[in-house]
Order: sequence, then structure tokens, then C-alpha cells
Amino acid sequence: TAPAAVVVGIDGPSGTGKSSTSRAVAAKLGLRYLDTGAQYRAITWWMLANGIDVDDPAAVAAAAGKPDIVSGTDPAAPAITVDGADASGPIRTREVTAAVSAVSAVPAVRTRLTGLQRSIAAAAPVGIVVEGRDIGTTVLPDADLKIFLTASPEARAARRSGELKGKEAVGLAATAAALAKRDAADSGRSTSPLAKAADAVEVDTTELTLEQVIECVVTLIEEKRGA
Ligand code: DC
Repeated sequence: TAPAAVVVGIDGPSGTGKSSTSRAVAAKLGLRYLDTGAQYRAITWWMLANGIDVDDPAAVAAAAGKPDIVSGTDPAAPAITVDGADASGPIRTREVTAAVSAVSAVPAVRTRLTGLQRSIAAAAPVGIVVEGRDIGTTVLPDADLKIFLTASPEARAARRSGELKGKEAVGLAATAAALAKRDAADSGRSTSPLAKAADAVEVDTTELTLEQVIECVVTLIEEKRGA
């Protein structure tokens, strides 16, 4: 018999291996995959491209419903489109990364994307791995399993810097500073800040390889499914 559908929320700051882990785990277990950070980036990209002042919460709120954002849920090829155009490249630029925390702090943006995320999760009969900052606390409070990934600031900056290498010329110190700024904004905002849910399992990835983190999460899911 096919295993029961399982809904997994994976939260944590950037540089903890959240995306790589979530994708790999979903692919291994035949689950769908949703990158909610990509949706916040997509709405931010649209705002920048349409001349919305991202530091004006009222302007951001007024425009929050405008772009049509569609997320694919295939872990082998996560796709995101904005008004029908592929946005997977443009959402990773430094401009978007610098603006995304301000846009994602606006309640109208969160309400819209949270609704989208819940309907995507509900439409995944095989189960899904949803990654973000507030999945366990706000988006899917009834998830079967909640995981909160952490790592030391040094490990996170080194990983981020490795990801950016070749794409943009940014040093380790600048990466660490940008990361710390985004963390503070994401954790300090009033509407569903980055936080560990009370019933989440915390996994410190500082001393672990990506393969070890994947193995750990797969085991936690299999234990849940078997239970
Ligand atoms: O995971 P990421 O770095 O691509 O996320 C980009 C930003 O989106 C992050 O700085 C905070 C925001 N975000 C959020 O507020 N809530 C989520 N569930 C996911 C991301």
C-alpha cells in the first residue's frame, strides 16, 4: 500500500541548507516541494520591476494582489512564474535579496501568499515539503512534522558565500553582514516573524554535511509515517 500523505514544514534562517535539504528530501520520498521564499522574492521582483517603492508599506500593500504568482511543486525542477513569465533567475539577484525583507513584512503580502501556500499544500495528495520562515508557526500549524534548521552565523555566511561565488563578487564579511541584517528584519517583524514552532524538531546543521542533514530529516519523516 502507498504510504499516507505527509505534510512537512521546514523553517529556519538562510544558510542552514533549508532549500537543498527540502528539495532532496521531497525528491527522495516522492513528495511535492514548495519554496515559499521564492514566492516572497517573486512578489518583490514584480514590485521593483513596476516601480513600487518597497520601503513604502502602503504602496506595497496596495499592489500586493496584482501579480499572478504560480509555483511549480516538482522537487526536481522548482519553477516560479510571475504573470506567466519565468522568474526563477531574476528572483535571485542582489537587488531582490536586499528588498525582500521589507516586502515580506507587509501584512497584505503575507496574507496573500499564506493563502496561496495553504491551497498548494492542500492540493498535494501525496504530501509536500514546504520550506520558509513561518510554515510551522503560521502557514501550516497542523503539519505532520515541523523542522527548524539552525547553524552558527559563521557556517551560514560561509555557505551563502559559496553559493554566490561566480555569480556576484561578494566577500565573506559582506555576505555575513547582509545575512545578519536580513535575519534581524525577518525575526523582528511583527507579522509572523521567523520563529521555531513549539512542536518543531530543531536540527543544528553547523557540524553536519548536507547529506547528513537530508538523512536526518528523511529519518524523522519515516518515523512519523510509521507512527
Ligand atoms: O528563503 P529565502 O532566503 O529565499 O527567503 C527570502 C525572504 O523571504 C526572507 O528573507 C524572508 C522572506 N520569507 C518570509 O518572510 N516567509 C517565508 N515563509 C519565506 C520567506
